[in-house]
Amino acid sequence: MQDPREHQLSMSVLMTPDMANFTGKVHGGELLSYLDKVAYACASRYAGRYVVTLSVDRVMFRQAIKVGELVTFLASINYTGNTSLEVGIKVVTEDIHTRVVRHTNSCYFTMVALDESGKPTRVPAFKPQTVVEKQRFEAAMLRRKLLHDQEAAHEAIKEKVRGFQFEENDSNATENK
Ligand SMILES: CC(C)(COP(=O)(O)OP(=O)(O)OC[C@H]1O[C@@H](n2cnc3c(N)ncnc32)[C@H](O)[C@@H]1OP(=O)(O)O)[C@@H](O)C(=O)NCCC(=O)NCCS
Repeated sequence: MQDPREHQLSMSVLMTPDMANFTGKVHGGELLSYLDKVAYACASRYAGRYVVTLSVDRVMFRQAIKVGELVTFLASINYTGNTSLEVGIKVVTEDIHTRVVRHTNSCYFTMVALDESGKPTRVPAFKPQTVVEKQRFEAAMLRRKLLHDQEAAHEAIKEKVRGFQFEENDSNATENK
């Protein structure tokens, strides 16, 4: 049985007024920054390597988080490829006065381990043990395929529009490349 400390990590942060947006709720960018740090720490500790963020999947802010609430990021390695890892992060938010806890967000980060020369390098294989770990592993494999398929579809779109004919003075033709 793997030691959960090897592939799981949690971090709690109190939401302070400096994190608020114009409406007084917590700014989405603050949460993204914490999510990236948590994903980095979870993946880098597991791999024993420096890691970089390749992609972020399904970050959706379904419920606003208020200043004064305690946000806990529960991260876990869901899947390892050769050099990449998927980190799943569940975000729970607690009103520290009423102790009511809400599940505010879940998302998935794909991280790639790098060696000293900055090249992708192998990570220790994660072997799911429990039913939940096995379910997460399967789901991560499907998300990985989706990511590769999406990349191929985006490339096909770019290739297709390269064949379109535009007027020389059409400024839109040179944007968003
Ligand atoms: C991450 C990075 C090193 C990958 O480089 P690369 O040339 O694509 O490397 P590889 O082709 O060897 O792929 C590395 C891994 O990423 C995976 N990968 C690459 N493109 C992918 C895609 N579109 N979808 C899913 N996985 C992908 C590969 O499958 C591989 O994983 P595996 O070894 O487990 O199979 C490179 O893209 C990079 O440096 N990106 C910038 C990272 C960064 O700065 N992040 C912070 C952004 S603010």
